[in-house]
Amino acid sequence: MANITFKLNGKSQTLTADPQMPLLWALRDVIGLTGTKYGCGVGQCGACTVHLNGMAVRSCQLPISSLANQEVTTIEGLSQKGDHPVQKAWLDHDVAQCGYCQAGQMMSAASLLKTNPNPSDADIDAFMSGNLCRCGTYLRIKEAIKSVAQK
Ligand code: FES
Ligand code: FES
Repeated sequence: MANITFKLNGKSQTLTADPQMPLLWALRDVIGLTGTKYGCGVGQCGACTVHLNGMAVRSCQLPISSLANQEVTTIEGLSQKGDHPVQKAWLDHDVAQCGYCQAGQMMSAASLLKTNPNPSDADIDAFMSGNLCRCGTYLRIKEAIKSVAQK
């Protein structure tokens, strides 16, 4: 067991847990933030995507030992009122189907738009390729991202 302190959605968070515990488990099972989803557990699906210091990362692959003094943002912290431009575009374009993958999709999209505010189709395809959607919402995801870019 170790005490690890990091910033989570803008607030200081201290965890007492096995330092090898992946962040995804800490978020869902220890802290109780269940917006971040478990998909594959092996870094292949993107359902568990959060931001580490503003960049999209797979929380199932991130031991909490690597988080000391770092800044983590989950879908719950993307905006205070759920009105981040990406979240608004997701609603405007009615992107979600079952919804399971969508928190991860939005966290990836927000990270993409932060580093590349006007991505090309190829940029979007490349960046989002690690986020899988069993329902096949890819076209609406792309439309939503492009609509944010055009604003
Ligand atoms: S659950 Fe982390 S990438 Fe699939
Ligand atoms: S909306 Fe169902 S898995 Fe993506």
